[in-house]
Amino acid sequence: MDLKAKLRHVMDFPKQGIDFIDITTVLQDAEAFKEVLDLMKERLGGLGEFDLIVGPESRGFVFGAPLAYVMGKGFIPIRKRGKLPYKTVKAEYELEYGTDMLEMHEDAVKPGQRVVIVDDLLATGGTTMSNIELIEMLGGKVAGIVYFIELGFLGGRDKLKGFNVHSIVEF
Ligand code: PRP
Ligand code: MG
Repeated sequence: MDLKAKLRHVMDFPKQGIDFIDITTVLQDAEAFKEVLDLMKERLGGLGEFDLIVGPESRGFVFGAPLAYVMGKGFIPIRKRGKLPYKTVKAEYELEYGTDMLEMHEDAVKPGQRVVIVDDLLATGGTTMSNIELIEMLGGKVAGIVYFIELGFLGGRDKLKGFNVHSIVEF
């Protein structure tokens, strides 16, 4: 299936000059969504043993949670500032102007656990870098990272040298 053709490009969203890749046209298409999840599952299967899937709010939940279910793993949400109710570890991440904070519950990952990160998109890599920081703060080991889409021209992969990075479609 031509998954690239199923993605909608919205020009000038959220601001002038941006070609926004809209995944909702894939999510609403049962066959396309299943194909993406099956392909991501295959990549996860190639990473070796792991214990948990971590997904960053909010689009990381859409792919991370069903993959945790089919692979029989626990799912750990990483959330934006102030959303998680219990004690958290925190990591800053870069926004276009300034920084914001991502959080994970401090008991979500146990020392020595092997964790994979699942998200919809690799752009600059800023989100993933702070996800890695949170996992490593708790003594977890990042066994791999799987995305649906990679924006290769932004060079996010260069920030992730030394990690096992996979994506299904690349622009
Ligand atoms: C988007 C996307 C990735 C991230 C990629 O999330 O879902 O998580 O940006 O960009 P980066 O590689 O430059 O960090 P966003 O923060 O827009 O939030 P959302 O998932 O809640 O829509
Ligand atoms: Mg996101």
